[in-house]
Amino acid sequence: MKKRVFSGIRPTGRIHLGNYLGAVQNYVAMQDEYDCIYCVVDIHALTTLEDTHLLKDNVREQMIDLLAAGLDPDKCILFVQSHVPEVTELFTLLGMATPLSWLLRVPTFKEKAKQQPHNVNYGLVGYPVLMTADIVLYKAEAVPVGEDQLPHLELAREIVRRFNDQFGPTFPEPKGKLTSFPMVVGLDGRDKMSKSLNNHIELAATPEETMKKVMSAVTDPARRLRSDPGHPEVCNIYKLQKHFSPAIVDEIASECQSASRGCVDCKKQLGAAINEYLAPLRARRAEIAADQAYIDKVIKEGAEKARAIARVTMVEVKQKMGLL
Ligand code: AMP
Ligand code: TRP
Repeated sequence: MKKRVFSGIRPTGRIHLGNYLGAVQNYVAMQDEYDCIYCVVDIHALTTLEDTHLLKDNVREQMIDLLAAGLDPDKCILFVQSHVPEVTELFTLLGMATPLSWLLRVPTFKEKAKQQPHNVNYGLVGYPVLMTADIVLYKAEAVPVGEDQLPHLELAREIVRRFNDQFGPTFPEPKGKLTSFPMVVGLDGRDKMSKSLNNHIELAATPEETMKKVMSAVTDPARRLRSDPGHPEVCNIYKLQKHFSPAIVDEIASECQSASRGCVDCKKQLGAAINEYLAPLRARRAEIAADQAYIDKVIKEGAEKARAIARVTMVEVKQKMGLL
């Protein structure tokens, strides 16, 4: 039997290069070899969203991005988290096997509690339990994610171990699967690329928007004058060049070090390389977005397929926990 793979992505906006390079490119690569299930996690988004009027549209935009990036509904299951309500049932039951102290020390919980002190909701502290429920509902073993999610996966493994010890072997311990670019720094050159910091480039951005964003990016801070030699190893733009201009990356490094290449020229060339790389994806995206009936069908069929698996797991879980 093929190994089961699961991952989730929050519908906080459109997919950006950080999501793509850190996780989504693996979603696509893994669907040929494994039994893959991917989910737009709208319930998770509610832990931080107060204004939810854009949520439904964002779920759809994200679906379109995932399809455009190369997910094929004939090869993988692609669905929306809230369309499979069994996950909330499993979330509740796993909650009984998760010590509160484990959740209170999760770094992302502490961070979020600081960012939204007026909204430290119960869902926020339960976030990793819901994430564990997502994964183990399908008994997934591998989870393609960016580096930032590894602490959550560590906790998922602890919850699984505890559940299996208490109720008998039920779930495999899920392991993270990283890409070669597990942490993409934003255009500010400082923090993780993310929509909330507005230091990102969306896959669906126009070529002009993309170029404008790249031109605004921070490069090697020690290079003040055009004639100063650069340090590619500390430059975020150079890291992106490694991915988007692999054929000339050595040349870029030596030209930067000898100051024969300036940052402005380097960014212009990177912007063009990103646009060239994303052109087929953007063309596919426009085609998919024009076919609303197809998107509806993918979403509906994905939920049906996921639900059929989820129901079986829930019977087993309830039996093991003494409910059935
Ligand atoms: P999120 O938008 O937080 O739901 O992230 C979806 C996926 O993209 C997760 O697997 C994240 O780990 C990954 N991801 C998000 N931002 C980045 C980044 N800047 N670098 C690498 N991976 C990322
Ligand atoms: N917490 C993940 C993020 O912020 C999203 C997520 C929810 C997820 N459920 C998951 C990732 C299950 C992997 C597996 O990106």
